[in-house]
Amino acid sequence: MEQPATSASPLLAQLEYLLPTTQRPYNYMYPPPRGAAWQNASYAHATVALADARLAREPLSIDRQGFELHHAPSQVRDFQDREEIVRVYYPEVLALALAVTGADRGYVFDHLLRQREPGVPQAFGRRDGHRPGAAGRVHNDFTPASAQRRLLAELGAQRVPPTVRRYAIVNLWRSIRHPVLDAPLAVCDARTVAPNELVPSDIHYPERSGEIYQAIHHPRHAWSYFPAMTRDEVLIFKQFDSAPAPVAGCTPHAAFAHPHAPAGAPPRESIEIRCLVVYEDQEKLI
Ligand code: OGA
Ligand code: FE
Repeated sequence: MEQPATSASPLLAQLEYLLPTTQRPYNYMYPPPRGAAWQNASYAHATVALADARLAREPLSIDRQGFELHHAPSQVRDFQDREEIVRVYYPEVLALALAVTGADRGYVFDHLLRQREPGVPQAFGRRDGHRPGAAGRVHNDFTPASAQRRLLAELGAQRVPPTVRRYAIVNLWRSIRHPVLDAPLAVCDARTVAPNELVPSDIHYPERSGEIYQAIHHPRHAWSYFPAMTRDEVLIFKQFDSAPAPVAGCTPHAAFAHPHAPAGAPPRESIEIRCLVVYEDQEKLI
């Protein structure tokens, strides 16, 4: 039987979580230096119930649950064309990020194309010599420390200027081809994650290292996803906010193998953009 595009009964799927550890976790995204292991922590799959976010009863908000879906067709013709992405897509997503967050200024600083590889989504979607695959390990792309480093880098400043009243980092995620059936992105309601379930971790790339959060499982985490996201839709989700709780700060996320994906579903191809937004203190600007 074909699964309907949306469904009221939750879907059960596996997501990979960090197991509690006393060491600071790290992961290499390239062959580690002599003698070092790829990673120093243990992980386990947990079965989670995924709600259909298209049927959410309460309105979704970037500042409450931490994520929203927008109908936002793009003028980009070829997402493989880096120049076109920077020229056409960056301004489009920046405008959307500002409209959704209500911030005054923004900076698109990163993008990543992914193509799902065969099998279940791997940790962070590492694939040597290819576009990364889907990332099946629960994480949040920034911590307060790495978010502040990013802010200072974008502003070319040593300290946070007094004119910055608030700043946030959001990701904007879309399919670049077919509706996503095989490896959708699941997002966790920011309100259901406790601070002690988020563990700062190092992630080493050939050219730099970053600090992200990995997450420890808790059954209260409320997961959902948007079935069959099309190329005309954007999922925007919060990765950091300098505003205190209850404003959503982190939205842990991970790809999952959809248990009802039709056999032969084309591999998911997606683009994700990271965008820093700044709310200015109007009084200090004068
Ligand atoms: C992201 C992310 C994983 C995926 O967009 O930040 O982690 O599989 N994506 O698309
Ligand atoms: Fe991510």
